[in-house]
Amino acid sequence: MPSILVIDPDPETAEMLEDCRLRETAVRAVPGAHEALDALEAQTFDLVVADAHLPGLAPAELLAHLRQRGSDTAVVLVAAFGSVEDAVVALRDGAADFLPKPFTQEQVGVAVRRSLENGRLVRENRTLRHALDDRLKLDNFVSSDPRMQRIFKTIGAVAGTRSTLLITGESGTGKTLLARALHRSSDRADGPFIEVNCGAMPENLLESELFGHVRGAFTGAVRDRPGKFEEAHGGTIFLDEIGTSSPSLQVKLLRVLQDRVVERVGESRTIPVDVRVVLATNLDLATEVREGRFREDLYYRIHVISVEVPPLRARPGDVGLLAEHFLRRFVAETRRDVRGFRPDAMIALERARWPGNVRQLENVIERAVVLCEHDEIGVSDLPPDLDGPVHHSDDPTPMSMLGGDAHLLPLKQALEGPERMLIQRALDHFEGNRQRTAESLGINRSTLFNKMRRLGIS
Ligand SMILES: Nc1ncnc2c1ncn2[C@@H]1O[C@H](COP(=O)(O)OP(=O)(O)OP(=O)(O)O)[C@@H](O)[C@H]1O
Ligand SMILES: [Mg+2]
Repeated sequence: MPSILVIDPDPETAEMLEDCRLRETAVRAVPGAHEALDALEAQTFDLVVADAHLPGLAPAELLAHLRQRGSDTAVVLVAAFGSVEDAVVALRDGAADFLPKPFTQEQVGVAVRRSLENGRLVRENRTLRHALDDRLKLDNFVSSDPRMQRIFKTIGAVAGTRSTLLITGESGTGKTLLARALHRSSDRADGPFIEVNCGAMPENLLESELFGHVRGAFTGAVRDRPGKFEEAHGGTIFLDEIGTSSPSLQVKLLRVLQDRVVERVGESRTIPVDVRVVLATNLDLATEVREGRFREDLYYRIHVISVEVPPLRARPGDVGLLAEHFLRRFVAETRRDVRGFRPDAMIALERARWPGNVRQLENVIERAVVLCEHDEIGVSDLPPDLDGPVHHSDDPTPMSMLGGDAHLLPLKQALEGPERMLIQRALDHFEGNRQRTAESLGINRSTLFNKMRRLGIS
C-alpha cells in the first residue's frame, strides 16, 4: 500500500488529502521538521507532501536527506505564498511537483496520484534494467578455457538442487558473475538474488544486516528489520569475502546452513528460510582453518561443492577473447569507431600478468577505447603499468633465490641473498634515493645504510 507523509503545520493539507479518498494509501501527518525526520527515520514513504516554508527543514535539505538515504521517495511541495522562483528551485532540486496554496482538493489529488505513479514507473524501470543487465552479462560469459568449462558443468549440475556452493578465486576472476549465473539457471531464478559483501562491513552491523534485528536490540534499532537471509527467501544469497568473518558470525552461518533457520539479533524466535547459499572468498580457507581463524565444521559444511576460478594469467587463451568481447561492448556504448587491436597491443595484453584479472582487463579496454585515436588499439593506448604496482607476493620464492644448497647455511646468512636483492631493486626503483627506498621498505634510513654496508651494496 503506498504511504504518504504530510509535513505541514497547517492541518488542512492533510485533511484535503484524506478527503481525496485516494484508494489504498496510508496517509500520516506531522506538523514540524523534528517529527518529520523521526518519521522518515522509522519508515520509508512513497511520497512526501511538505510545506515549502517549513521552519527548520528547507526543501533542499529534505530532498538532500532523502537522496542521502538512497530513497526513491517523491516529494511534492506546497506553499502558502509560493512564487514562481520557489517552484523553479524546488523542481530543479528534484521535487516531483509544486503546488501553490490555495489549491483545490482535485489539484492535490492529481499531483499525488501522478507522483506516486511516476515513482512506481521509476522503480519498475530500474528492476527491468537490472534484469536486463544480468541477462546480458550471463549470455556474455566468455571463456574457452577447459577449466572454466568444467566449472560451468558443475554450476549446471548444482542448479537443480539447493546445495551450497563455494567459489574461490582471486579478485576480479568472475566469482560474482558465476554466482549470478547459478541463480539464473536454477529453479529459483524468479526469486531474489541477494549479494552481501561480508568484508565491507563492521562485524556487528554485518550480523544485523544478514539476520535482521528487532526493535531495541541496540541503540538505533528503532524498528524490527528483516535481514538479508529473510529477504533472499525463495532465492539465492551470495556471501562474498566470507573468509574473514568473525567467530560469532561463523556460528550463525553454520546454524543457517544446517537447520535453515535464522534468529534476528535481539530475539530468540527462529524464522525458517528457504535459500540457496553461495559463498565466495579469495583466501585459502584450508589455511584459515589450520591457523584457527575459520571453524573446521563450517569449512566442511561449505566445502561440499566448490569451484576454483583460475586467475586470468593461468588461462592465456581467454585474454584475447575477453579483450575482443569488452572492445565490442565499449565500442557499442561509446559509439567510437574502433575496430580491433594492432598486433603489438594484442601481444602486450597476452603477456601481461593481470593481477586484477578480468576486471583489470575490462578497465584497460574501456580506457583504450576512449583514448584510441585510430581505428585500431595500439600498444600506446594501453597503460604503461599493465602489471600494476610491484607485488612482493608475485616474486620468485625465496627458496628459488637461495640456490640449491641454501638449507645448509645459517638462517641469517641464507637470508642475505634475498635481502640484498630486495634492497637493490628498491634502490633501482627510486633511482638511488635512500630516503624513499627506506620508506618503501618500511625501515629507517640508518638501518638501510647499515644493511647496505653489511651486504656490500654501494
Ligand atoms: N568470463 C567472463 N566473461 C565476461 N566478463 C567477465 C568474465 N569474468 C569476469 N567478467 C567481468 O569482470 C568483472 C569482474 O568480475 P566479478 O565481479 O564477477 O569478479 P569477482 O571474482 O567477483 O571479483 P571480487 O573478488 O573483487 O568480488 C565484472 O565486470 C564481470 O562482468
Ligand atoms: Mg565479487
